[in-house]
Amino acid sequence: MDQPSVRPARTSDLAAIASIYSHYVAYSTVTFEVRAPDAREWAQRLHAVGRIGLPFLAAEMDGQLVGYAYCAPWKPREAYHRTVEDSIYVAPSATGRGIGARLLSALLAECAARGVREVIAVIVDTDDPASVKLHDRHGFVVAGRLRRVGFKHDRWLDTLLMQRSLGDRGLGDRGLGDRGLGDAAPKVGPTPSTGGGGHGHDARGDS
Ligand SMILES: CC(C)(COP(=O)(O)OP(=O)(O)OC[C@H]1O[C@@H](n2cnc3c(N)ncnc32)[C@H](O)[C@@H]1OP(=O)(O)O)[C@@H](O)C(=O)NCCC(=O)NCCS
Repeated sequence: MDQPSVRPARTSDLAAIASIYSHYVAYSTVTFEVRAPDAREWAQRLHAVGRIGLPFLAAEMDGQLVGYAYCAPWKPREAYHRTVEDSIYVAPSATGRGIGARLLSALLAECAARGVREVIAVIVDTDDPASVKLHDRHGFVVAGRLRRVGFKHDRWLDTLLMQRSLGDRGLGDRGLGDRGLGDAAPKVGPTPSTGGGGHGHDARGDS
């Protein structure tokens, strides 16, 4: 069996991405979404993430798409513009083989290169420790807990916030201002919604 390779996601990945995510939407509480987005909605998400200069990665193994990870703005207000939320999903048949670790390492490296300073994981408190352990192994620390903020599958659920600072990862605590980011700065401010009454076309996390 090949090692997983990680590369930027492309449009041809979206059906597989939709399929992976729809499993977790339907059968788990790891995401608070309750209706799985279709491939068209995923195309909008991929486009929105790319447009603001954030990474959207796919993991492939033996010619199959086995996972994906991306970042979205933590909040739309401008002063948050170097803070993002990560999302990472591995196909249920492929978990526990190091794919999540490969994806998260690559995602953090991409974030650092693009001038992101803080990465936040919003982890629903389920019985599955995998996400907490994955993030802990990648230097995330617990930043807080929001109690009973979600209701899914007949349960009120907490979220655990974990945070990874990239400020000390090659960029220094002076942050990015000293580097004269220019066009390299991620444009993670508000993105225009193209209608439909919601935020469905904006880049955002899925917690
Ligand atoms: C969380 C998730 C992305 C982890 O990906 P993965 O490929 O299964 O994880 P890896 O094999 O790379 O393992 C990463 C670490 O987590 C640990 N881990 C993985 N699954 C675990 C489990 N079920 N129980 C305990 N630890 C687990 C591994 O041992 C490893 O730690 P180590 O470095 O100390 O050995 C994956 O399980 C998943 O997609 N879960 C559902 C979606 C989800 O919860 N996403 C996160 C939303 S914030």
